Amino acid sequence: MQTTAKPVTYGASDRPPRGDYSRAREDYTCDQGWDAYTADEHGRYARLVARQLKHVEGRACDEFIAALSHLGDAQGIPRFENINQLLKPATGWEIVAVPGLIPEREFFTLLANRRFPVTYWLRTEAEFDYIVEPDLFHDLFGHVPLLFDPVFADYIQAFGAGGLKAEGLHALEYLSRIYWYTVEFGIMQTPKGLRAYGAGILSSVGELEHCLTSPQPNRVAFDALRLMRTRYKIDTYQETYFVIESFDELFDATAPDFAPLYQALRDLPELPANAVEPGERTYAPNPLAQPA
Ligand SMILES: [Fe+2]
Repeated sequence: MQTTAKPVTYGASDRPPRGDYSRAREDYTCDQGWDAYTADEHGRYARLVARQLKHVEGRACDEFIAALSHLGDAQGIPRFENINQLLKPATGWEIVAVPGLIPEREFFTLLANRRFPVTYWLRTEAEFDYIVEPDLFHDLFGHVPLLFDPVFADYIQAFGAGGLKAEGLHALEYLSRIYWYTVEFGIMQTPKGLRAYGAGILSSVGELEHCLTSPQPNRVAFDALRLMRTRYKIDTYQETYFVIESFDELFDATAPDFAPLYQALRDLPELPANAVEPGERTYAPNPLAQPA
């Protein structure tokens, strides 16, 4: 099974898909194939996790840190079924294996049914520091911990339902921006300072530091309409991060029907990735998150 639809997930790429789509079911899920992982792959996963654990402390939001232990002991690639034994009772979510990026309709359908797609294959050694498309480490380490948070878990489901409702409204680009600037590259103002919650940040060493401490990027107060007008970068660190104050704020702003926003957006110009609009609230870099 080949996918030609443009996916909405992190790191959309024009390159041919890497996973084995012939083993996918009609809904694009497949078996994890845990027995096929090599010792090298288990070791690489363990090293990826060990490195990232040193960086997330003091930089990731508390909800993410609190749930990390649910991913297992990180000595090797976990079995998805073991994570699901904890995840299902916690928030009703489960993770399902997929061969890679999947078409948006199937993607939205999985999310709307509280099923999160996780790529079954792991990056190569040559990609240890950087990979364009999402792999197992990005999907699992970056995304799955926050599925244990009840409010964020509801937000992701609402996003999937909103995506299905948006079919035919030519709104995919707007939805991509919501996903990109929140689920992948969101940051949060907390009593302890700025913290990251986006998976694209939390599975990256460099951007985790950059998004919180660098004076370069804009950190703009979250506003759904403003965000959906803003283009984004897929090949560099983000030039703008949208800052939420809580997951409740995020859920309340995005769970409603987006249709009225789509209408308003058609009359508004798009904004470049580095725009700052007059009078909008911005946040200073986080003085607490210093290099480890
Ligand atoms: Fe992602």
